[in-house]
This record gives sequence, structure tokens and C-alpha cells, in this order.
Amino acid sequence: MPGWIIGRYPYLCRMLKETLLEATREAGRLMKANFGGPYKISSKSGINDLVTEIDKLCEEAIFRIIGSRYPDHFILSEEAGELKQDSPYKWIIDPIDGTVNFAHGVPLCCVSVALEKDGAMLMGAVYNPFLEEFFFAEKGKGATLNGQPISVSANSQLESAFLVTGFPYQWEEMPNDPMQVFGKFVKAGLPLRRMGSAAIDLCWVACGRFDGFWEHNLNAWDAAAGYLIVEEAGGSVTDLKGNAYSPYQPRLLATNGLIHEALLTAIAQP
Ligand code: IPD
Ligand code: CA
Ligand code: CA
Repeated sequence: MPGWIIGRYPYLCRMLKETLLEATREAGRLMKANFGGPYKISSKSGINDLVTEIDKLCEEAIFRIIGSRYPDHFILSEEAGELKQDSPYKWIIDPIDGTVNFAHGVPLCCVSVALEKDGAMLMGAVYNPFLEEFFFAEKGKGATLNGQPISVSANSQLESAFLVTGFPYQWEEMPNDPMQVFGKFVKAGLPLRRMGSAAIDLCWVACGRFDGFWEHNLNAWDAAAGYLIVEEAGGSVTDLKGNAYSPYQPRLLATNGLIHEALLTAIAQP
């Protein structure tokens, strides 16, 4: 990298961060302002895979803010798909994560925006405007909730772990499927939740509320910001076999690190 670019790098990062924060905040504001409707709701892949007019409104607001400063950046967003550009920067956006909750008036939903550079996650933000909780992480700089540093829990015992998971809207037959895994932990008497927003699930692992979260079928926009937030809060994120995590494959396990191996083994057991 030429010297003059190195000198400007902190400034470039600051501008990217400001853009990411502003876009996330604005989408959260719109989500909250339109909570309870009226708005149109439609189905996507199945009758319960919903999208509302507000998902699109939030997405457009995010695009407007990013596009006004970085018109040549690549965008991957849940509702619009890929807006391809030949750029090292890629914004990965879920305008409302937890749309089914949102559409039913359950305020457990959020905006998730992440920024990747040259294939590595650089920063990510997740904002739940109903709880006024704004999570943010930048690679190598830790994770915060409303500006305060956060870290994962210190529980090292799977037997007493507080866990959360999610289920796909489209059922896929597979060995050791999500219901079998869910059943195993319920039968073992573990407290296990299904909240309906993968991005919030991840952030609640990052700030130590949950000890672990897994899901079998996520998209990049569900987890891109949240997984960086978990890692920067000191947690571990892999696929369900313990391999390095990539948001471009569907399976994810995020934990405080201490119960990671035990949870991997428990999930893998038939
Ligand atoms: C969904 C939520 C849910 C998870 C699903 C996701 P959406 O995202 O994150 O918790 O279980 O797999 O698709 O549709 O609300 O953006
Ligand atoms: Ca989502
Ligand atoms: Ca969504």
C-alpha cells in the first residue's frame, strides 16, 4: 500500500464506520416509527417467510446513505439481493432481522449491517431500537453495546448453559436435524430459547446473556455483523463441525468459547 494511502487509512475507516452507524441508526428509527403498522405484508419462499413494506423502506434508507458516499461499493442485501460492483468493499445488510416478530408486533427485531473488505469482515452493527440496544464491533478493536465494552459469559459448564437457537422457514430433511438437536437439550433439561432474530441471538451471546447459539440454515445477512460482534467480545464462532466460520455457508455455532467443544460434540451426537 503506498504511504499516502496508509496515512489516510484511519480516516477512511472512520468515515466507513460513521456511514455504517448512520445507516443502521436510520433503519432502526424507521422500524420503530412504523411498528404496529399499517403496512403491507407479503410471503416469500413460504407462507410464513414474510417481508413487509417496512423491510423495504429500511433497506432503501440504508442504500441511500451508503450509496451517497460509496456509490461504487458492492452491496448484498436480503430483499434486493446482490448489487454487484467491482469493489474490495461489500456491505452485507439485513434491513429487519426478525421480520416475523416485527409483523406480529413482537419488538424482538433489529437492523444488521456489516462491512467486508477483501473477503474479511471489517465491522458490523446490530441495532434493536425497541430496547435501545446498539451493538458494534470493528475487527481487532473489541465489541460494544451502546458504546460500552462487552464480553461473553464465563460459564464453562454445558450442563448449566443458557442456550438459544433458531429454525428455518423451509424444512430440510437432514441427519441430526434442528428438531432432533433441540429435543436433545430439552430432554436434558437445559434452558433453551427460540427468539426469532439470529442477529439478536448472536449479540446476546456476545454480551454474556446466552452461553451459546446455533442454527442450521442462515444466510450471510443474518450473521455477518453478529458473528464479528461475538468474536470481538471474546467468543468463538464455527460451523457445526468446528471448522472456521464463513457467513457464505449456512451452519453456525457461536459460544463463549468455554463450552464450544462440548456443544459441538453434543450437537453432532445422533
Ligand atoms: C430470520 C431470523 C430467524 C432465523 C431465520 C432467519 P429474517 O431472519 O434471523 O431468527 O431463525 O433463519 O431467516 O427472515 O427475520 O430476516
Ligand atoms: Ca434475517
Ligand atoms: Ca430480514
